[in-house]
Amino acid sequence: MRARIERITPTHPWLVADVDGAVLGYAYGSAYRTRAAYRWVAETGIYVAETARGRRIGTPLYQALLDELQRRGFVAAMGVMTAGNPASTALHKRLGFVDTGTQPGIGFKHGGWHDVVFWQKDLAERAAEPSEPTA
Ligand SMILES: CC(C)(COP(=O)(O)OP(=O)(O)OC[C@H]1O[C@@H](n2cnc3c(N)ncnc32)[C@H](O)[C@@H]1OP(=O)(O)O)[C@@H](O)C(=O)NCCC(=O)NCCS
Repeated sequence: MRARIERITPTHPWLVADVDGAVLGYAYGSAYRTRAAYRWVAETGIYVAETARGRRIGTPLYQALLDELQRRGFVAAMGVMTAGNPASTALHKRLGFVDTGTQPGIGFKHGGWHDVVFWQKDLAERAAEPSEPTA
């Protein structure tokens, strides 16, 4: 996990949910695509400890990530989610993400192939000459 955090570029945030000194979740932004044209879009990820789920830890954590991405100059967040994840679907809808489509059979995990849903949340107007995202 340390290596994953260290690999992230300085412009992308990595947040943790600290509840009474215990880290119960994390949320982070990363490059949506590596081509330069997409550098104002951040792919988002969030994970809450299994024993702490359903206690409204994910909602404020993900909102804090979106606020931070907006502050840093990203114009959109993209949540990339395995289809059929009710908690993640509810979270993305709650925070105003829009389902922009499903790509069939592009993700392999837990011994099977899965459809993947792309949830987009716009964070800013599209400027004619956008400033670079900052740390
Ligand atoms: C998705 C996840 C981050 C949500 O975190 P959480 O702290 O449990 O979420 P919250 O308690 O803040 O609830 C967020 C919303 O999800 C709903 N929800 C939570 N667990 C749910 C479940 N098991 N089934 C259906 N809805 C659920 C809540 O009711 C709430 O919706 P609402 O605001 O419309 O009432 C957490 O379940 C998780 O870590 N899952 C595994 C990793 C994952 O799937 N990450 C997302 C990949 S894109």
